[in-house]
Amino acid sequence: MKNANTTLSQQVQRTTKGHLRHLITLDGLSRSEITALLDMAQFYVRKPHELPARDQSLSGHTVANLFFEPSTRTRVSFELAARRLGADVVNLDMQTSSRVKGETVLDTIYTLQAMHADVLIMRDAEPGLPAQVAQYVAPHVSILNAGEAHISHPTQGLLDVLTIRQHKPDFNKLSILIVGDLMHSRVARSTWRALNTLGTGEIRIAGPEHLLPPTGEFPGAARFTDIDKAIKDVDVVMALRIQKERMNDAHIPDDAGYCRQYGLTLERLKLAKPDAIVMHPAPMNRGVEITDEVADGRQSVIQQQVTNGVAVRMAVLATIARGAHER
Ligand code: CP
Repeated sequence: MKNANTTLSQQVQRTTKGHLRHLITLDGLSRSEITALLDMAQFYVRKPHELPARDQSLSGHTVANLFFEPSTRTRVSFELAARRLGADVVNLDMQTSSRVKGETVLDTIYTLQAMHADVLIMRDAEPGLPAQVAQYVAPHVSILNAGEAHISHPTQGLLDVLTIRQHKPDFNKLSILIVGDLMHSRVARSTWRALNTLGTGEIRIAGPEHLLPPTGEFPGAARFTDIDKAIKDVDVVMALRIQKERMNDAHIPDDAGYCRQYGLTLERLKLAKPDAIVMHPAPMNRGVEITDEVADGRQSVIQQQVTNGVAVRMAVLATIARGAHER
């Protein structure tokens, strides 16, 4: 699997036999690997009125959630996913953990490992941390990346493409727009990677010049600073949150001005195809990157993304647990 362009994250996430042991990045996953994860996730999807899917794929396993940055969707859905697969789950509250007394991330992880936690789910603002940690954990332990700085959010990428596939299964025929603060978005990077691997026909990115990613990232994507041009005739529009917490003051746009120029409004949405779907990874800044009418409108699949998040995380956990028996 290794070559000159293979990143550390790609290298460490596989066993010597090539199986996925950790999930740190979607880089390097093949189309068939992503499709297999989506197929398994689809198996776990239930309609809102049905009881959630359950099985015992993680029976005997202990899953620990370590979120060093805030989260609602990812943390709760990983917890539900693990419980619905029969695992024991611990959620470390970082505000009351020994991290505040200066304990290192690695010592925190060794502590959980010593208590037989064998799947550690991590979110952190430090780029590269999941891959670094993965090199030091015991052989029976897996690291799942639940959001790494602006770099990677692999399960979000998977749930995004699962949601698109449920509405528009022929990726090669699709034109997809990702609009907003791409510079700081780990979601955009992981979703772009998954879309690219699945052979998406056209990917467009749009936003103010200073919030677009550096040239060279998102290769092959058409770049726009004019959203009204970018949105024309697309099948899917994904709006991104303005990540004020990752910007210095000079970069923070004013809310009303941003909404006027880049916000996803009903009027703008009419420029996309009539059956276009609207996505947002959430949390949303309503009235900034997306208006209430669009977020809650008939074309929005934002709540479906959340529902799919549990199914995708069940699929990832079950796949990693199955791989553990093959190590
Ligand atoms: N989309 C996403 O990662 O949401 P949370 O920050 O709530 O987990």
